[in-house]
Amino acid sequence: MKTRITEMLGIEHPIIQGGMHYVGFAELAAAVSNAGGLGIITGLTQKTPGDLANEIAKCHDLTDKPFGVNLTFLPAFTAPPYPEYIDAIIAGGIKVVETAGRNPQEHLPRMKDVGIKIIHKCTSVRHSLKAQSIGCDAVSVDGFECGGHPGEDDIPNMILLPRAADELEIPFVASGGMADARSLVAALAMGADGMNMGTRFIATKEAPVHDNVKQAIVAASELDTRLVMRSLRNTERVLNNPAVEKIIEIERDKGGQIQIDDIMELVAGVYPKVMLDGDMDVGAWSCGMVAGLINDIPTCQELIDGIMKEAEALIRQRLEGMLAS
Ligand SMILES: Cc1cc2nc3c(=O)[nH]c(=O)nc-3n(C[C@H](O)[C@H](O)[C@H](O)COP(=O)(O)O)c2cc1C
Repeated sequence: MKTRITEMLGIEHPIIQGGMHYVGFAELAAAVSNAGGLGIITGLTQKTPGDLANEIAKCHDLTDKPFGVNLTFLPAFTAPPYPEYIDAIIAGGIKVVETAGRNPQEHLPRMKDVGIKIIHKCTSVRHSLKAQSIGCDAVSVDGFECGGHPGEDDIPNMILLPRAADELEIPFVASGGMADARSLVAALAMGADGMNMGTRFIATKEAPVHDNVKQAIVAASELDTRLVMRSLRNTERVLNNPAVEKIIEIERDKGGQIQIDDIMELVAGVYPKVMLDGDMDVGAWSCGMVAGLINDIPTCQELIDGIMKEAEALIRQRLEGMLAS
């Protein structure tokens, strides 16, 4: 399948693995790229720019295919040394960077000057147009269904994707709620040039996370995620657990008076404990509604091959067949 995204990124299939804290290590990124998609290392999971350089080198050892790095721009008061992380990205020969969070504009020239393609993750048409105007090469349009931060507009992909298609000139991939061939074909029909998956890629053999995490995703239904931190305008979709129920209770009790400190121990430092130790109830961790569509733990190759094979059948048989007279 050829789309503007496969052409731009030099990949075989229009499938991207979104950056995920404590999931997007070299093993997963390489497995996705080796299967013909675009794997992405999560930059800030690496504690220092030097650690990121090592992770990139490790990924180069595991694949000859292109892979990317995610750089998530956090609120200014917690800003990591982004210029040094970008040094590591450039020195590591990375050709694609997925940016997310705050406006990445001040960091774009250095990356674009060396030919890096920038895919900015956006949860609204407004932000997608802004990304286009500051020179991003593509956007990843993240609907309300998504695991992680869906923004504050609550527009699901059935509306958001065609809206993005109507407004954008640069290519975009559909993100949030994407799991299988049906997701891909629907996303393409709505004007996207591919899809980005997060939660689906956690439940794969190569995802270097504790088996408890994979089993929790397989066991979860589409009813099992919750939104936390809405009261702080930092909404996050997470898998429900007792810690999440506690956060929701605190948010309800505190109302408009809530401060991040009120829930800090339930949201900070949680990822290594969940992803590496398998301590599932220690706090809130991102998970998409798409968990309801995930029932197995395939290899990335099996997952991507299956999606592409079934997508072809959907297009050639189901859709084409409907038109046959
Ligand atoms: C466990 C987890 C951690 C994530 N961490 C990040 C992150 O650090 N930076 C980022 O830009 N997106 C992050 N995301 C969002 C994903 O890159 C992707 O946009 C999202 O998962 C898409 O929705 P889906 O889960 O329905 O596929 C995370 C998602 C999950 C599930």
